[in-house]
Amino acid sequence: MEEIAKPGFFLLLAAALLWWAAAVVVMPARELLAVLQRIARGDFRPVILGEMPFFYRGAADALRVTAETLAKQKVMLAEEEFSITTILESMTEGVVITGADLRIRQVNKAAVSMFDLGVRVSGLLLPEVFMSHELQGVAQRVAQTGQVQRGELDFVIPGRSERRHLLVTAAALQSPEKQMPDGFLLVFHDVTRLRELEAVRREFVANVSHEFRTPLSIINGYLETLGEEDVDRKMMQKSISVMRRHADRLNSLIEDLLTISRMEEKGVRLETRRTSLEPLLRGVIEQLERESSEREVTVKLEIAAGLPEVAVDPYRIEQAFSNLLVNALRHGNPRPDGSPGEVVVAAALHGVEVMVSFRDNGPGIPLADQEHLFERFFRVGGDRARQTGGTGLGLSIVKNVVQAHGGRVTLSSSPGEGSTFTILLPLGV
Ligand SMILES: Nc1ncnc2c1ncn2[C@@H]1O[C@H](COP(=O)(O)OP(=O)(O)OP(=O)(O)O)[C@@H](O)[C@H]1O
Ligand SMILES: [Mg+2]
Repeated sequence: MEEIAKPGFFLLLAAALLWWAAAVVVMPARELLAVLQRIARGDFRPVILGEMPFFYRGAADALRVTAETLAKQKVMLAEEEFSITTILESMTEGVVITGADLRIRQVNKAAVSMFDLGVRVSGLLLPEVFMSHELQGVAQRVAQTGQVQRGELDFVIPGRSERRHLLVTAAALQSPEKQMPDGFLLVFHDVTRLRELEAVRREFVANVSHEFRTPLSIINGYLETLGEEDVDRKMMQKSISVMRRHADRLNSLIEDLLTISRMEEKGVRLETRRTSLEPLLRGVIEQLERESSEREVTVKLEIAAGLPEVAVDPYRIEQAFSNLLVNALRHGNPRPDGSPGEVVVAAALHGVEVMVSFRDNGPGIPLADQEHLFERFFRVGGDRARQTGGTGLGLSIVKNVVQAHGGRVTLSSSPGEGSTFTILLPLGV
């Protein structure tokens, strides 16, 4: 009996040991391995384990802490990445980040639209994408010196005729403990509008100087003549009258410039009141009666029946009307076919606006010049000879006055068929 019981006992013991090994050693080890694999896949959710035998407890705790730490770091990294991406994408400056070899790593939205980068440029070399000597110079200088470099690019977007002026600042991306930079950061600032404004300002100063120089040098010339000893009375009178004419010209030039600058800076407060346009237009025509009869131009006034009053600053609007009538009289003359000069001034209601037009039967305005006509100092054909005596400021005043009233000016003209300038004013309250 004892002989049989012994092997049975050992078998039972072996089975119990196997069961213990499976339940207490292998199963928890498998559980731990599964968690480890999950962490390795980047899944850092909290680690929840069953009851662990004492010899696995250290490992289980370490796994729990590891998962917790990695989860925290993942959140921090994601937040950091989010804020960097958000900042880059919401910047109006173009940003390009390259590696140390000038291979592009990242380009923000602003840079894509600034350079019209249609294709994916990540991985390409900076000089392959941006064909600019100046930019390559800036990139080389920052790579050689590691110091911040600046430059200005005059950039024409390939396939577009648009020219852009960009300021570029390049800096090395370098951690303090390293000798060599990890890459470079290029920030582009679009200064096209600023450069255009500077060009306008330079041109304006040149134009003003030019316009002042002529009358001043004439006045100077006559003053010298008057300074001579043997000036007869006739010469004296002539000198004074010429000087007065040019002094008047200087005066009106200054007046015009002041009007424009005040209007442009919105420094002028309109003294708006309900105004009937008919007497205003009649007054303007009367004031210029002498000029129209000298130029043999008939001026007709056509006021539509029941024309309502308009809320305008009568002084300013009269200035605009007067400029358009003077233009029609001066520039609308002589007519190409020698026909009698005729200017029609018409006012009528046009929807919620009042329309006042000045139509002449003069030489008209070439199409190419029409878009520049309202610019300061612009004269058709660069009319520097000043046969018509103008400075090229009148239409700029008209545009500013009308815009200050919330209205607009339009032009319809074709060479040989006269011109019609139309002011449209809102009826107002
Ligand atoms: N009715 C018109 N017919 C033909 N050309 C015109 C007419 N009105 C204006 N122009 C052209 O437009 C240019 C600009 O007109 P604008 O009134 O601004 O200046 P200006 O008359 O030359 O000088 P200013 O009005 O300052 O004395 C004129 O020089 C002229 O060449
Ligand atoms: Mg004029």
